Parts: sequence; structure tokens; C-alpha cells
Amino acid sequence: MAKDYIVKDISLAAYGRKELDIAETEMPGLMALRKEYGEAKPLKGARIVGSLHMTIQTAVLIETLVDLGADVRWASCNVFSTQDHAAAAIAEGGTPVFAIKGQSLEEHWDYLDKSFMFEDGPNLILDDGGDATLYILLGARAEAGEDIIPVPGSEEEEVIKAQIAKRMKASPGWFTRVRDQIKGVSEETTTGVHRLYDLHKKGLLPFPAINVNDSVTKSKFDNKYGCKESLVDGIRRATDTMMAGKVAVVMGYGDVGKGSAASLRGAGARVKVTEVDPICALQAAMDGFEVTTLEDVVESADIFITTTGNKDVIRIEHMRAMKDMAIVGNIGHFDNEIQVASLKNHKWTNIKDQVDMIEMPSGNRIILLSEGRLLNLGNATGHPSFVMSASFTNQVLAQIELWTKGDQYGNGVYVLPKHLDEKVARLHLDRIGVKLTELKPDQAEYIGVSPEGPFKPEHYRY
Ligand code: NAI
Repeated sequence: MAKDYIVKDISLAAYGRKELDIAETEMPGLMALRKEYGEAKPLKGARIVGSLHMTIQTAVLIETLVDLGADVRWASCNVFSTQDHAAAAIAEGGTPVFAIKGQSLEEHWDYLDKSFMFEDGPNLILDDGGDATLYILLGARAEAGEDIIPVPGSEEEEVIKAQIAKRMKASPGWFTRVRDQIKGVSEETTTGVHRLYDLHKKGLLPFPAINVNDSVTKSKFDNKYGCKESLVDGIRRATDTMMAGKVAVVMGYGDVGKGSAASLRGAGARVKVTEVDPICALQAAMDGFEVTTLEDVVESADIFITTTGNKDVIRIEHMRAMKDMAIVGNIGHFDNEIQVASLKNHKWTNIKDQVDMIEMPSGNRIILLSEGRLLNLGNATGHPSFVMSASFTNQVLAQIELWTKGDQYGNGVYVLPKHLDEKVARLHLDRIGVKLTELKPDQAEYIGVSPEGPFKPEHYRY
């Protein structure tokens, strides 16, 4: 049989398998789902396209989906985030995967296309950032002769259009057929969720979507505690710079910003924060950070990190004003937070993979991490397994929900019910020796909850 995968080096599979075995011991939520559902196989018949960073942790997610009965094909959602040994282990285990660390943008969209190539077509999408969903919806629009909705990053838009044209030529009507048999999508991240709400608002979402990001056990853990560990990890692996004493600026103080600021502070940096939202600005100030504007600190700070999910946050005029050897990176989902395209005509010196030194007209140089793509996955290996277990347990529950009860949902964006959120948290307590206090019935009655939970009303913000 012809090989149905694209990985950097299949001989890395044994190394990947060893790290997978270790990761399993740190992913109690996923392992508990295997135990609970492994025999019943609730995902039997599901053909899942996955578009999410192909890391060791994702490999444990993939093997959990397969254990629960699903057929899976996988691509990464970012050109730099693949861990080649993880991809090799998955390919060797028999699941088709198309992902190489450092793949080009053209390969990125071609690999995504390949991940849809089930013999009978896919029926579920597991997305991170929305590229897989967007690919099908844009393609179906193109087949209907409708305009393609603008995509962030003009360079990428041309690549997407070219890939769509290629598929339309090879298989006329394919996008529309696939769109019509997709039962739903579960979305991992803030930026992808924004895209879904936007599509829904415009009446363009043709299937139900589960917003995994806004499970409390996802965004208040992965985005926050995950970045707290992986941001500084990325900066250190990229630069080996001394962090203590340096002035670092974190742009945005949402969940990722909170984790990122804590990460840098933990490493001894003097951290400043910028925000547009007065609530988050006040939070940052009361957490003890100076809140200021980028313009105020651009000439004096040493490290600049964007965490906003917004575009054009660090612009060319900012980079020109930075001091010599300032470090610039982004931990938000897309690379448009920093105006990297505007640096094209500058002198670039590649230091090593995903680390570039760029010379400004003044002669000052900046160190740019992962070409402005999320640096914790580009320069390091993303979040640790334990926190990803919480995120991915939500993902698996969302896929089961869509596969077994998808017909009960209208086209729209939903979050998982609170009792499942609490279940995900509960599954992670033993591993770190947490002892939970039990509510007495009269106490439960007094605060108006059931002794088994849910313990909070929907509007509670944690
Ligand atoms: P969020 O919405 O909680 O936080 C973003 C914050 O940025 C908001 O408080 C907003 O007011 C602020 N902001 C927006 N424009 C700004 C500007 N021009 N200047 C300063 N602040 C600005 O979103 P969250 O969950 O923190 O996610 C941020 C990004 O990180 C998203 O793109 C998300 O997809 C991505 N993400 C990345 C992860 C990683 O491992 N690298 C993990 C989880 C999320």
C-alpha cells in the first residue's frame, strides 16, 4: 500500500513513542476517557479531520480518538509547531498525518487538503484557529461562484486561493459535498472561536460548532498556566538570554497575556503590560504590573511579546525605534500581530531555525522569533502535557457530543455544559494529589447548589 503520510523522518518514530509513553502519564483526563469509553467506542463511524499543532500531546489526543473508535487524519495548524518525532510515531501507528516542522505555507494548505482525503469523505472537524473549517467553507463558496471571505494575512490569502483552485480542478464539487457531510466542528483556540462567531453572525456557519476554548478548564488553564510555562521556555531555547533584570513588555492581558506576564515575572524580568480594555488594564495594574503604552517603552524595553489575537500590534515604526538586539515575538495564534511583512526589504541574518536577526535602517538589530508565529510552539515544544490533557479532554468530549448528539444542535456555536467542565477538572486532581472537600447537604442547600455540582452558576467568571 502506498504510504499515506508526510513526515520529516519516519525513523524518529521510536523516539516519539518513548515521549508519548511519558506524556500519557501526565494526561490523566485523556487516559480516563480511554478507560471510560474504550469499549463502547462512541466515535465508531466518525471520520475526523484534525488541524492542530502536531505535538507529542496531540499524539496522545489522536490515539485517544482512535481508541474511542474514530478514523482520523491529521495536519498541523502552524508551519513551525510540528514535533517531527511525534508525527513519525503517529504515522507509524497507522494514522495518516501530514506535518513537518518548517513546512512552507503552500505545503501547509496542501497538507491540510490531504488530511480531508478519507475514502468516504470526513464527517467531523477538530480545528485549532479555524483553517480546516475555513478551507471547506471558502471552497464551497468558490464552487457556488461566491466571493471568498477575506482571510487574515494577504500573503496567505493568495496561497489559500491557489490551493482551492487546485482542488476544484481535480475534484469538481468536492468542497460542497464535504461541507454537506460535516456534522460539526470543535474549535480549540480564541482566534478560531472568533472566526466561528463571526461566520455564524453572517449566516455562513452550516453546521454546529463547539467552542472548546471557552470551557473553563481550557482557557483558564491552557491559555494561562500553559503560557506561564511555555513562553519563557521558547525565549530561552531561542536566545539563551538572561531574563532577570530585563524589561519585558507584554501586549494584551487576557488569558494568554496573564500567563505570559507571569512567565516573564517568574524568570525575573521587569514586566510592563499594554491593554485596550480598561478591565484587563486594571487587572494588570492590580496584579502589580506597570500598564503603559508601547510607544512609551518601545525605546527602552528588551523583550516584546504580543498576546492579543489582534493585528498590527507591533508595527514597523515600533521595530525601528527599538534598541539594538531587542527580542520580538508573538504567542497569539496568527503572525499578523507583528508587521513581519514590512521587514521583507531589511537585512535578515538567520541565526538558527526560527530565530532571525534583522537590521533596521538605523543599524540597530532586532531578534525575531519564529517569524512572528506563535513562539512557544515554534521555538519550544508548546505547553506541557498536563495542561494540554485538560484542553484535549474537552476536545474529545466535544467530538463525542457532535458525533452522538450533533443532530440535536442547530447551526451555531456552543460551549460544553458546566458538569462536563467540572468533570474535566476532577479527572486532573488525583495526579497532583489534590484533596477535594465534600459539601454537606445542608451547606449545598444553603448556597443553592447540588452536592455533586455544578458548583457555580453559568455567569460565574472564575
Ligand atoms: P483574550 O481575548 O483573552 O486576550 C486578548 C487581550 O488582548 C484582550 O484583553 C484584549 O483587550 C487585548 N488587546 C486586543 N488588542 C490589543 C492591542 N492592540 N493592544 C493591547 N492589547 C490588546 O484572548 P486569549 O485567550 O488571551 O488569546 C490571545 C491569542 O493567543 C489568541 O490568538 C489565541 O488564539 C492565542 N492562544 C495561543 C496559545 C499558545 O499556546 N500560543 C494558547 C491559547 C491561545
